[in-house]
Amino acid sequence: MYQAPRGTSDILPQDQPYWSYIEAVATATCRLYGYQRIDTPIFEDARLFVRSIGEGTDIVEKEMYTFKDRGGDDLTLRPEGTAPVCRAYLEHGLFNVPQPVRLYYLSAIFRYERPQSGRYRQHHQFGYEAIGDPDPAVDAEVIDLAWQFYRTLGLSDLNLQINSIGCKGCRPGYLEKLKEYYTPNIPGLCADCQGRWQRNPLRLLDCKKASCQEAAGSAPKSEECLCQECRTHFDQLKSYLKSLELPFQTNHRLVRGLDYYTRTVFEIQPEEEKAQSTIGGGGRYDDLIEELGGRPTPAIGFATGMERVILNLKKQEVPVPEVPRPTAMVVHTSPHFRDEGLKLAGRLRRQGVPVLTSTGARSLKAQLRQADALGLNHTIIIAEDEWSRGTVILRDMKKAEQKTVTPDELSRFLVEEQVRGTNWTTPIH
Ligand code: HAM
Repeated sequence: MYQAPRGTSDILPQDQPYWSYIEAVATATCRLYGYQRIDTPIFEDARLFVRSIGEGTDIVEKEMYTFKDRGGDDLTLRPEGTAPVCRAYLEHGLFNVPQPVRLYYLSAIFRYERPQSGRYRQHHQFGYEAIGDPDPAVDAEVIDLAWQFYRTLGLSDLNLQINSIGCKGCRPGYLEKLKEYYTPNIPGLCADCQGRWQRNPLRLLDCKKASCQEAAGSAPKSEECLCQECRTHFDQLKSYLKSLELPFQTNHRLVRGLDYYTRTVFEIQPEEEKAQSTIGGGGRYDDLIEELGGRPTPAIGFATGMERVILNLKKQEVPVPEVPRPTAMVVHTSPHFRDEGLKLAGRLRRQGVPVLTSTGARSLKAQLRQADALGLNHTIIIAEDEWSRGTVILRDMKKAEQKTVTPDELSRFLVEEQVRGTNWTTPIH
């Protein structure tokens, strides 16, 4: 038997209400803040990601799905959504429209990671980017949108952490200080961190291993090494977040796993689990567009893993709206009425009533049993005598009660039932 590839999953009908709900809330929240949808290809030129995410990162070193196509081009399945959006921004000259350009996406993302709960090889992100404006008010807006999104979904007990990792002017000085601080600790670091000390010292701060965490505890803080502009930017952001009444904490060890970040970085985590299960994160990337061949263009964005949002919705037992399904089935007393059944179902559907039709050569009893097994509220029985008088039988499956109705009465009743939702106790009237 074939199975879905490791780290991927099928999204079965019973989970679809979560996906529809998250997409609906994401779309509605983006509209409130003026973000427009963008979709980019599932794969891109591999160099786009190497250039933007950074050679020394886990994603580029170990996690990209890169392949040669039949024409010999190196392509990579999208391992994140920011670089493709920046590529599209440049390719379509979006720098010519009023800035910032606000865009959002709902995309499948591919990373060759070790699968575990909340970590998959194919996951899905809701993300958004505000490109073309350095104002810390944009940072506040991007963080506020994320917070509103989770709150509207009904998630609580979340933790918002922010930090500033400086710009290309002040960061090198900070990295030097970090390396200096870590030098005597190198032998005690994990193998990964020993490599990071040389290639990517910022990432020493967020290693999850106990030995490395201890050393990170008293490491120099980036906030203390910011240049004047970065300091003012960070102070303004904090003051805006206070005005918005967002309950943030400054976490000096928050650095993020992609190299393109500058200044503001932020993450949102479930209260009791902390960094193990970040539900969403983002930050500023003021140099990325220039790095990709554009003019210097400040930008900031955020993304959240939809599977992780679902895990948290389930954990917090947040009720999600059902996806509407048929509550009635058209059945018949004889195969002779099959045609009439199809026509009646077609008419109801055109009136907006979801309805099933019975299939196969089942007896009426078997059709009713099937409707029962499907948990349907009603069956519409086409029977000889009633049909000859221009009526059908409407049967309440729960109460095992039935009455004769005209097609008009039938559609009125079913339309009203749609409006009421599935309510077993409502009597037929
Ligand atoms: P990221 O932190 O790598 O950022 O991913 C964003 C979110 O995607 C994570 O917080 C997590 O919820 C989810 N996620 C990441 N990897 C996995 C995985 N293997 N399985 C399940 N969920 C996962 C970015 O990708 C940046 N592009 C975000 C951004 C947008 N920064 C600026 N703009």
